[in-house]
Amino acid sequence: MAETDLTRFSIAVPENLLKQFDELNERAHGNRNRSEAVRDLIRQALVADELRAPDADVIGSLTMIYDHHTGDLTRRLDDIQHDYTAEIVSTMHVHLDHHNCLEILAVKGKGARVYELADKLLSLKGVDHGALTCAATESSLDR
Ligand code: NI
Repeated sequence: MAETDLTRFSIAVPENLLKQFDELNERAHGNRNRSEAVRDLIRQALVADELRAPDADVIGSLTMIYDHHTGDLTRRLDDIQHDYTAEIVSTMHVHLDHHNCLEILAVKGKGARVYELADKLLSLKGVDHGALTCAATESSLDR
């Protein structure tokens, strides 16, 4: 995209989060400005999405940290997981402190289903930290 095609938009970010982001940006990338830093994050997200292989058999882990006091979050997490019993091989739940839970799901199945599950869980309000680490198995593990 040419420089002349740049679009400006404003985003709202908690002050502390922005401060930490600026510090990380300064530490890891020197004089890269905020706009470039956000553009890089957007590109990373798009590349990660391109690497998804919906038709492949995939295996991986889904990690979430959340405050179990958030609304009806635990019930919603449960409801979704009960729709993916074929894909969720195992779950581990750790009560981290009075508020926070760490949940790790081992997942296996068609990429499309596994990504769908991850998107549903990680988009729930109250799931603050979450990541799916996943690899297609066709080329690596099946031989
Ligand atoms: Ni817990």
